[in-house]
Amino acid sequence: MNGRAVVTGAGSGIGAATVRCLLAEGWRVACLDRNAEAARAVADGQPVIVVDVADEAAVIQAMAEAEAELGGIDALATCAGIYETTPFFASTAETFRRVNEVNVIGSFLCIREAALRMAPGARICTVGSVAGLRGGGLAGTVSYATSKGAVITLTKAAARELGPRGIAVNTVAPGMIDTPFAAGPLADPAIRKRIEGMTSFNRLGTPEEIAEVITWLLSPKASYLHGATIVADAGMVMY
Ligand SMILES: NC(=O)c1ccc[n+]([C@@H]2O[C@H](COP(=O)([O-])OP(=O)(O)OC[C@H]3O[C@@H](n4cnc5c(N)ncnc54)[C@H](O)[C@@H]3O)[C@@H](O)[C@H]2O)c1
Repeated sequence: MNGRAVVTGAGSGIGAATVRCLLAEGWRVACLDRNAEAARAVADGQPVIVVDVADEAAVIQAMAEAEAELGGIDALATCAGIYETTPFFASTAETFRRVNEVNVIGSFLCIREAALRMAPGARICTVGSVAGLRGGGLAGTVSYATSKGAVITLTKAAARELGPRGIAVNTVAPGMIDTPFAAGPLADPAIRKRIEGMTSFNRLGTPEEIAEVITWLLSPKASYLHGATIVADAGMVMY
């Protein structure tokens, strides 16, 4: 029997695979997403909480609800995120605002509110991206890459603050993963082939392959990892 976890972005892709992986490992999981129907389809009887992670008041309420439903919070995976593919010269302040609101501020709010309810020994995993290490260059463009660089830095800053409280904070930085998120750009066979060719295995990743890393980072088996960026990208970056 494992502990009590909160997963944001639980309704699709990496978040949904993480919910399934945690459930298989015996965790109880509160499934948070802005899409209630999608989260319910994944939750398998676990609590579903509808929230826009960019909405501060809603996140405060959602984490309180998760704590009440589960009886406490031992782990958090922040998988909610959005993609942004506006080209460089077409990007505007508004382009940056929304992607940062969800990916960066949303991750921060969830970390803060979960950590307030965590005891020593708890663990947090954010979801960065190789885009945040490479500066993009896959399918997401400038505002997305910038937001993911910020998630990686946010994770380190949170690790500095929360480590002394006994809360471990790490990030996984996936390469290109075959999820609904990436379906738009990957529908172009030339883009798909180019990105596959950037990996040493000549293939994209699956959401389950990232969920396994997240589940491990949330487990006591990762007890000496803190402030780390674990790149899971089939050798695309070799960071
Ligand atoms: N798929 C990839 O190639 C890839 C690569 C690197 C990093 N990532 C990151 O992984 C994370 C998950 O991506 P995915 O591929 O599983 O995407 P996805 O689109 O399949 O799933 C994202 C989920 O997050 C939810 N969500 C989006 N905005 C939200 C908000 N404001 N509040 C609450 N829920 C919200 C969506 O409803 C959806 O269920 C994202 O942070 C993404 O940046 C994805």
